[in-house]
Amino acid sequence: MPLTILAIESSCDDTSAAVVKDGYLLSNLIAGQDVHRSYGGVVPELASRAHQANIVPVVDQALSKAGVHSTDIDAVAFTRGPGLLGSLLVGTSFAKGFALAMNIPLVEVNHLHAHVFSHWLREKGSDGSTPSLPFLCLLVSGGHTQLIVVDEHMKLNEIGSTIDDAAGEAFDKCAKVMGMPYPGGPHIDRLASGGDPERFSFTRPSIGKLDYSFSGLKTNFLYFLRDELKKNNAFIDDNKEDLSASIQKTIIDILVDKLVIASRETGIKEIGIAGGVAANSGLRKKISLLARDEGWQIYLPELRYTTDNAAMIAITGYFKYLDNDYAGQDVVPRARLKI
Ligand code: KG4
Ligand code: ZN
Repeated sequence: MPLTILAIESSCDDTSAAVVKDGYLLSNLIAGQDVHRSYGGVVPELASRAHQANIVPVVDQALSKAGVHSTDIDAVAFTRGPGLLGSLLVGTSFAKGFALAMNIPLVEVNHLHAHVFSHWLREKGSDGSTPSLPFLCLLVSGGHTQLIVVDEHMKLNEIGSTIDDAAGEAFDKCAKVMGMPYPGGPHIDRLASGGDPERFSFTRPSIGKLDYSFSGLKTNFLYFLRDELKKNNAFIDDNKEDLSASIQKTIIDILVDKLVIASRETGIKEIGIAGGVAANSGLRKKISLLARDEGWQIYLPELRYTTDNAAMIAITGYFKYLDNDYAGQDVVPRARLKI
């Protein structure tokens, strides 16, 4: 019997719905929210309201693009957390209502698991291979920076994480002090391609073996700019490309140094990256170079599956459904949820 899963993602500022059938993705629709742009960050109350406006049309489009009817859906998966509570509530309430109305199981998904499991997404006609287990994944997003091992039973173990800011936050905050719009990561990425990554050097944390820290780097960058601007008030404009290249290189070096240690310590050579920062072209290039030196088999997600999307929720929900891992109607969203 075919198994068709509808999935909803609403943890931050993207409303997304996807359909997976028998482990293959049929559709993945995302409605972004431009309303936050002028505020320099996501405004939770506005995000929640935009999810309410977007969720029904996005689900409708996901079903019609997949060529399925609501009565064809066997289970509905949704992001339970972590994320913004008001945003999560919209997706959770919709999923609960849908499951109740169609009398089908509800499957709750941890957003962080889903970023990692995006490596198991398959589409008909594309023959991308999926990782062998155990698999080591560097999860780098706006809210998280973690080293995660997926073991032989598809269970996830965190072996390192940030003690303060996430890597995406470091990109966004450094971009903000250079006057770039939110989210700044992609702007730094673009400018970095024309800059000299060795021109400026910034502080690197010395911290527990597999953990990360980015708050010192952010402060160092801020003070460096403040001092330079005293000498030349056009310093940022004159050096935007070199500044971007240098800060990007520093963040990438910090990220991959620990990934190499983790791989050597665990002996795992199946390596992936996931999350919004996995879209960074410098990080992708560096991982590809390391693959050669370290003998890694690497998995770089397609760009559309790096930032938040319901496709990753759908594939994770599919695996959980196969494990009979259902949620009850009493399930509530969680702003904080561990791996
Ligand atoms: O996974 P995601 O969409 O949302 C969270 O769950 O946080 O990640 C968003 C983060 C933002 O910090 C954004 O600046 C960063 O991913 N990002 C990038 C790039 N594209 C997105 N950072 C660096 N380079 C990029 N190309
Ligand atoms: Zn995310």
